[in-house]
Amino acid sequence: MSCFSCLDTRTRDMRINIDTVPYLTDDSSVDKRNDSKGARSKSGILVNGKVNSPRPGGGARSFTFKELAAATKNFREENMIGKGGFGSVFKGRLYSGQVVAIKQLNPDGHQGNQEFIVEVLMLSVFSHPNLVTLIGYCTSGAQRLLVYEYMPMGSLEDHLFDLEPDQTPLSWNTRMKIAVGAARGIEYLHCKISPSVIYRDLKSSNILLDKDFNPKLSDFGLAKVGPVGNRTHVSTRVMGTYGYCAPEYAMSGKLTIKSDIYCFGVVLLELVTGREAIDLSKPNGEQYLVSWARQYLNDPKKFGHLVDPLLRGKYPKKCLNYVIAITEMCLKEEANQRPTIGDVVVAFEYIAAQSKSHEARSVACKSTGSYRSRGEPKQGL
Ligand SMILES: Nc1ncnc2c1ncn2[C@@H]1O[C@H](COP(=O)(O)OP(=O)(O)O)[C@@H](O)[C@H]1O
Ligand SMILES: [Mg+2]
Repeated sequence: MSCFSCLDTRTRDMRINIDTVPYLTDDSSVDKRNDSKGARSKSGILVNGKVNSPRPGGGARSFTFKELAAATKNFREENMIGKGGFGSVFKGRLYSGQVVAIKQLNPDGHQGNQEFIVEVLMLSVFSHPNLVTLIGYCTSGAQRLLVYEYMPMGSLEDHLFDLEPDQTPLSWNTRMKIAVGAARGIEYLHCKISPSVIYRDLKSSNILLDKDFNPKLSDFGLAKVGPVGNRTHVSTRVMGTYGYCAPEYAMSGKLTIKSDIYCFGVVLLELVTGREAIDLSKPNGEQYLVSWARQYLNDPKKFGHLVDPLLRGKYPKKCLNYVIAITEMCLKEEANQRPTIGDVVVAFEYIAAQSKSHEARSVACKSTGSYRSRGEPKQGL
């Protein structure tokens, strides 16, 4: 039985047992395919066939509030790098010299505490290059803080919408690289964990970027262990972000892994169009990205209307057609008509490779130089 101490022993000591956390457990949660002797493990989650193994390297560690206050120079305003629904995020430097992002949860609200626990448990168990690493947490008194690896390029949202005049827009190839990585992160949750995990909060602000624009998914507080046995869905309170939510989930609370595929479709639309899922500053009819885009999604002659003007026409038309075809499938109203994430990964690996070779050919053909934007990574997808 695996336990994670989630409270600093110097304050109050609460031990979280994965077996008893309702978000993570289910009686039938043992993957019998991985259990050749038919013996039932009592633990809840299998990662690559191993039960509840904390991440290689030891998983998350507990910090004192004093350590994190020192790391952020007492949560100085200048160190604040973001603010989300659950609190503020600060850049900090640990005593060891490691630069980190520290999220301080709003102290009020039961909800935040539950999500905090799920986040610590999930990220202590999972390990994948496209999921953000949780370095530690702090639970001194009423404080709830999470310490993550620092992602120097911030979130995808920061590079798609409301760019500063001196900001370079993302190139087509970087957009494809982000799509591949995000899809691989989801694939890990859906296919490599057993029972599968439904992420529930896929959106551009939760796709963080490292210095080479490799994407990592963050915020697992809403993640849910998927349906097991004969069940087709998990019934739950509707949570997530308006504008990204799959229609069947928004209407009935029936959550399946296909709900994440819909969210992925919305992110794909954001990547192609450079428009936000919801933008109330736009004229009527354009405020809801999916509704606006539907008029163009089924007609290849109209695909050009969807493309972000900041790309200045620099994208391979054939690849755009593929991306929009996949986007349209991900956004199917009927959940079971949406593709699996495995299919999406395969398709995007192909598209990313095609986009790269198209770029290489353009560079070779044009003596005027490549269309790669300044400041973006030169290495492969
Ligand atoms: N690990 C991190 N490294 C760098 N920046 C981060 C990190 N985590 C979050 N941020 C920044 O803080 C912002 C707020 O994050 P968050 O609290 O998760 O809210 P939301 O996901 O609702 O935007 C993000 O959009 C991002 O710009
Ligand atoms: Mg977030």
